[in-house]
Amino acid sequence: MEISIKNLSKSYGKKAALQDINLDISKGMFGLLGPNGAGKTTLMRILTTLLRKDSGQIMINGIKLEETARIRELIGYLPQEFSMYSNLSVYEAMDYLALLSNIGPVKLRNQLIMELLHKVNLEQNLKTKVKALSGGMKRRLGIAQALLNNPKLLIVDEPTAGLDPEERIRFRNLLRDFSEDRIVILSTHIVEDIEFTCENIGILNQGRLVYKGAVKDLLASSEGAVWTASIDRGQLDEVRSSSTIISSVSEGDKVKLKLLAGEKPMPEAEEARPTLEDAYMHIMKGGVA
Ligand SMILES: Nc1ncnc2c1ncn2[C@@H]1O[C@H](COP(=O)(O)OP(=O)(O)OP(=O)(O)O)[C@@H](O)[C@H]1O
Ligand SMILES: [Mg+2]
Repeated sequence: MEISIKNLSKSYGKKAALQDINLDISKGMFGLLGPNGAGKTTLMRILTTLLRKDSGQIMINGIKLEETARIRELIGYLPQEFSMYSNLSVYEAMDYLALLSNIGPVKLRNQLIMELLHKVNLEQNLKTKVKALSGGMKRRLGIAQALLNNPKLLIVDEPTAGLDPEERIRFRNLLRDFSEDRIVILSTHIVEDIEFTCENIGILNQGRLVYKGAVKDLLASSEGAVWTASIDRGQLDEVRSSSTIISSVSEGDKVKLKLLAGEKPMPEAEEARPTLEDAYMHIMKGGVA
């Protein structure tokens, strides 16, 4: 399983949403990271064939994206704005979607639905109305429906937004299990979501791919750029104008800072080991990986 994206561009009117994207993705979990409006949903919808690209070449598993029917057979998709037949029960909703996907006969359909609901831990909720599910349960149902056609490529757009920490971790683990024998592309603006699940990531910013590669290489690229220092409150403005402050914590008259700087920003500064969050900030501020 392999996705190859070459020179992909897409505009909405005059607004360039994706500019000259080149990216290869192979088996496992791939994280797509970027702030609001970066182009994550646009890229994902193009891969699902729901949105047309303006230019570029995309191949999925050796098949051209233009062969829509064959591509769709490969793909499961959980959109960012996911809503589903809220007056149906969990089972009825799955059954309806399975029917639409031409999965039959009844016995096989029933078996498949139960298998998937078991995987996403919703088998206790067969009769619960969709509208009565919690946000996390709805996302899990969303994954179950995206897996109905046993996709080789699963695309999930910001699946962890609005989930509590426990549910987020459960959801991440679920996706990681699925990614063992397929590609899972996960978009998020929460760095932590990909830190523990994705080996490889792409970072989009204003329609451009500003990083692609291994998480560990991104971390390595920000070595030497992250510093901590405890300064007097009065110095804060001066520091702010000369470096990028990642975080600040008040400690009496002092402020403890974490900042980005190409070299030691002040005598009392100490180099810190970058976290993924730091490395992400570094890239977003124009650091080169
Ligand atoms: N249908 C549309 N018509 C016009 N502009 C659009 C449309 N959809 C997206 N855009 C613009 O394209 C850019 C990329 O949007 P996109 O939804 O792909 O970003 P995103 O990374 O998914 O953001 P978010 O994190 O908020 O979901 C944004 O500037 C957005 O305003
Ligand atoms: Mg989006």
